[in-house]
Amino acid sequence: MAIKFSKNEGRFILTTKDTLYAITVLHGRYLVHTYYGKKRPAPELKFEPCVVSFSPYKAEYGNQYSPDVFFSECSTYGAGDFRPSALRIKNTEGNSVTEFAYKGYKKYKGRHEIPGLPFARVGEDTETLEIKLEDSVSKCELKLFYTVYYEENVITRSMQITNNSKGEVKIEKCMPLCLDLEGYDYDLIKLWGGHCYERNFERTPLCHGTQVISSSRGASSHQFNPFMALCDKKTGNDKGDVYGFNFVFSGSFENSVHVDQMENTRVLVGLGSECFAYTLGPKESFDSPEAVMTYSPDGLNGMSGNFHKFINKYIVPEGALEGHRPVVLNTWEACYFNIDEEKLVAFAKEAAKTGFDMLVMDDGWFGKRNNDKAGLGDWTPNPEKFKNGLGSFIKRVKAEGVQFGIWIEPEMVNPDSDLFRAHPEWCLRCPGREMSLSRDQLVLDMSNPRVVEYLKKAFTDVFEGLEIDYIKWDMNRHLSEVGSAHYGKEKQDEVMYRYVLGVYELCRFFREKFPKTMIEHCSGGGGRYDLGIMQYCSQIWTSDNTYPYSRTPIQYSSLLGYPASVMSCHVSNPGTNMKSLDYRFKVAVGGVLGYELNILTATEEAKKIMAEQVKLYKTFDRLILTGEHYTVIAPVDSRFESHYFINEDRSEILLSYVERKNAGAGKILKLRVRNADKTAVYEDRISGEKCTGKELFDGIEVISEGEADYARLWHFVKI
Ligand code: DGJ
Repeated sequence: MAIKFSKNEGRFILTTKDTLYAITVLHGRYLVHTYYGKKRPAPELKFEPCVVSFSPYKAEYGNQYSPDVFFSECSTYGAGDFRPSALRIKNTEGNSVTEFAYKGYKKYKGRHEIPGLPFARVGEDTETLEIKLEDSVSKCELKLFYTVYYEENVITRSMQITNNSKGEVKIEKCMPLCLDLEGYDYDLIKLWGGHCYERNFERTPLCHGTQVISSSRGASSHQFNPFMALCDKKTGNDKGDVYGFNFVFSGSFENSVHVDQMENTRVLVGLGSECFAYTLGPKESFDSPEAVMTYSPDGLNGMSGNFHKFINKYIVPEGALEGHRPVVLNTWEACYFNIDEEKLVAFAKEAAKTGFDMLVMDDGWFGKRNNDKAGLGDWTPNPEKFKNGLGSFIKRVKAEGVQFGIWIEPEMVNPDSDLFRAHPEWCLRCPGREMSLSRDQLVLDMSNPRVVEYLKKAFTDVFEGLEIDYIKWDMNRHLSEVGSAHYGKEKQDEVMYRYVLGVYELCRFFREKFPKTMIEHCSGGGGRYDLGIMQYCSQIWTSDNTYPYSRTPIQYSSLLGYPASVMSCHVSNPGTNMKSLDYRFKVAVGGVLGYELNILTATEEAKKIMAEQVKLYKTFDRLILTGEHYTVIAPVDSRFESHYFINEDRSEILLSYVERKNAGAGKILKLRVRNADKTAVYEDRISGEKCTGKELFDGIEVISEGEADYARLWHFVKI
């Protein structure tokens, strides 16, 4: 049993394989967070004195309790806790003071299913604790859900608010994860960036006050990823206490870390208040998205490993890890909008000869889409580019011996499109305000069910009956002037949130309507690289930056929070530089391999090398999809990068070493494969050399070449 309640102490204990989480019901009323971390004997409630100057307390309990000082499972606004709150609800009286009292609990196998939102699936051992609370003034009921993933050391959290009053209440802030930790001797790791430079690793010491990691863009964004971690100062790849957090949501979010006057730390993960509000009528309920947390004493690799296992097992669609992922040849960087049937059939022919599995036709196939200024929203094939329609074109592609994939961007529209001319009211807009453009496009109002229904029909009309093996779903701008013609005034501040619900509804439709079609998500590269969208796709386009020197750190940081199985990595055009082609390949096999170059102008030598690369990749691609991943050298403040994948029985290891720009020659490095089986002998299938597991454990020595574009791979197999 992963969840226990001890009546005497009023204490809930949640255990995973290596962690323990404790909650105490104080005075039969307050839900006090008691402990989270390494497993240990029954934790005690700490924190004395309980009340400090200027901290409010209730006469009944005197200095036995102040919400301002105690650790809280769900801090609410306005009743004495002055730290950032997890929940704020405006009641029928017009004030936003809320105070929830404990009313009881349930625990059960499985989990609470969150309507309309993605959430982690359940396994046989998944258990949930549901705690019920009530606020006597607003007459709201609050349920807190804790779902325990024992083997993966993950606990997820969500909340449900029900309005039992006779009037309307408004949720003004909603953070399903509120975690108070003792002290503040931690570093905060966050992933910041922008288009083409996603997920830069930043590690800074915590400081007093609040640090916010958020997106107000309507997408989880290139700028700040919802993943973050807190680690102790000594944390490295393999050692140190690390708490990891994430949010199963693809829209605006607001995570924060606050160090208070007592020098303790509060972590909040959720929807925040800037981009979110939600009105509940009598008897209506609101379910929050799910937040995810893990703890590992084994450094960043331990924390990442917990997340990788959890995501691969419970987040990505069932079956996504089976078999081999197709090695695609994508047309974008080779052709941009300049595509037509003859050219792409020629691409397909060469792709098949080179050993690629699939041709992906990117942007430019529909409407008047000859550049990014027109056509978006008109999902019918361009008759000049595809004279006999898509069906006969796809047949020709397949006859060449490759599968077929296609690009779409359903959420967007160009002002110069038939769709916009027919339905300008279907865009996000606020009365009296000019709609801002971004990449010459506007955003469709996905909060409006009519728009979503229209898109379902439009894509059914064009795709039904066609043999499409893969869809790349893109999103190339963020949301501004967020308002909807579909809703009245009182619902306008829900539109940002409801937009994401509409996207998820369409995602579910695609998966149900085209169940055999693999989906890759993308948002100008990795602008929606999150646990929400991962429920609906096998992989995500990591970044529009395919330059390998930039890719190495992007891939490293992506792997901190997400598994390699979702990380789509392409080899882009190396020109005539075959050393660069080799290097690009060795970087790209940090994740799921693909190519993005002009196969018609590639030299015979390049095609031969690519064919060998694809063949080699297929000897170890299952390791990348399903193996455990460990960083050996992080490309953070280092001119080198090294990592390995290893399978469960440690019989196979893929070790990689990459020299970054200006790495310098002559440096001796030891690449330690700490998880190698020390009793075994391995053979490197690439060089044919043999070595013992002990040698791998102690470290393979490499001396840096210092020349441009140098990388090496070893594929060790137990003999
Ligand atoms: C942005 C994507 O990241 C690219 O790969 C490509 O699909 C373009 N959009 C097409 O417009």
